[in-house]
Amino acid sequence: MITGKYPSLRLRRSRKTSWSRRLIQENTLTPNDFILPIFLVDGNNKRENIPSMPGVYRYTINRISQIVDKALKLGIPMVALFPKNKNSLKDEIGSESLNENNLVCQAILEIKKKYKNQIGIMCDVALDPYTSHGHDGLIKSSQIINDQTIEVLINQSLLQAEMGCDVLAPSDMMDGRIGKIRKSLDKSKFHNVQILSYAAKYASNFYGPFRNAVGSNKSLKGDKKTYQMDFRNSDEALREIALDIKEGADMVMVKPAMPYLDIIKSIKDKFKIPVFAYQVSGEYSLIETAIKKKLINSDAIYESLISFKRAGANAIVSYYADRINNILK
Ligand code: PBG
Repeated sequence: MITGKYPSLRLRRSRKTSWSRRLIQENTLTPNDFILPIFLVDGNNKRENIPSMPGVYRYTINRISQIVDKALKLGIPMVALFPKNKNSLKDEIGSESLNENNLVCQAILEIKKKYKNQIGIMCDVALDPYTSHGHDGLIKSSQIINDQTIEVLINQSLLQAEMGCDVLAPSDMMDGRIGKIRKSLDKSKFHNVQILSYAAKYASNFYGPFRNAVGSNKSLKGDKKTYQMDFRNSDEALREIALDIKEGADMVMVKPAMPYLDIIKSIKDKFKIPVFAYQVSGEYSLIETAIKKKLINSDAIYESLISFKRAGANAIVSYYADRINNILK
């Protein structure tokens, strides 16, 4: 594969000027590569700081256009909605997830009313922002019960689809949920609603700041290792992906992103399907804090994002998406 030989071949020759480096660059980033997560909070006219995620905010429904306008102007194709629910709304079975007036439903209606199809909306399918125990599913005798959880996830999916959600993103890691959700969507004439499966989602230590952002950190009892993947495994990720494709996933997600570049690459090589990378809250806050402390310079953001493209990702969920014009400059 390697052609040529020093001294007639000198790779530095092509690196010597900026214009030449630009000509031989193999990967690029544009706003089209991004999905912007938006945190929702109840109340009126608020934009709240999130202490664990400097530079990221929670928005009330009436302020949501502030951030969606920005995404639209930048040319970002899709936003992802995440609610921070009051503790008083949480219970053992995550009932609020099926309330047609919940934060996510309100936000979908608001965004669709104002922006129609100018921007896509993606919603998590999982119960953790709604349960008093902070887990993604229902619990019986200390176990997360798979099949009963799927029944709730189906209803959550149908509700979000009905409100106008474009892309459902099951992030719960129950077995078999993609197929059952797809079937229920089709039966209810939602055959055009896409499914982005969080197919390779690891039981990661990098989700801490997010759990703080949605307020599930204090409530979470134990860990998520019985349903999210073991980070020692990679073959298992391919099995997860293969299953979800067979069950009807349109796109698959790898999460977190930077510690899992090998997984992104092998999925892309093997399956040739759209693969998304989720640069999660812990990755974001690490980079952001290190920049603030002047340990690294801010070009590290671009370097982290291009690594996902290099590995084979088609798109990136990133909390940096709303600042992407500065990053690409
Ligand atoms: C919920 C969910 C999580 C994230 C996205 N959806 C947290 C978790 O599984 O505990 C994490 C995102 C991030 O850390 O940025 N199922």
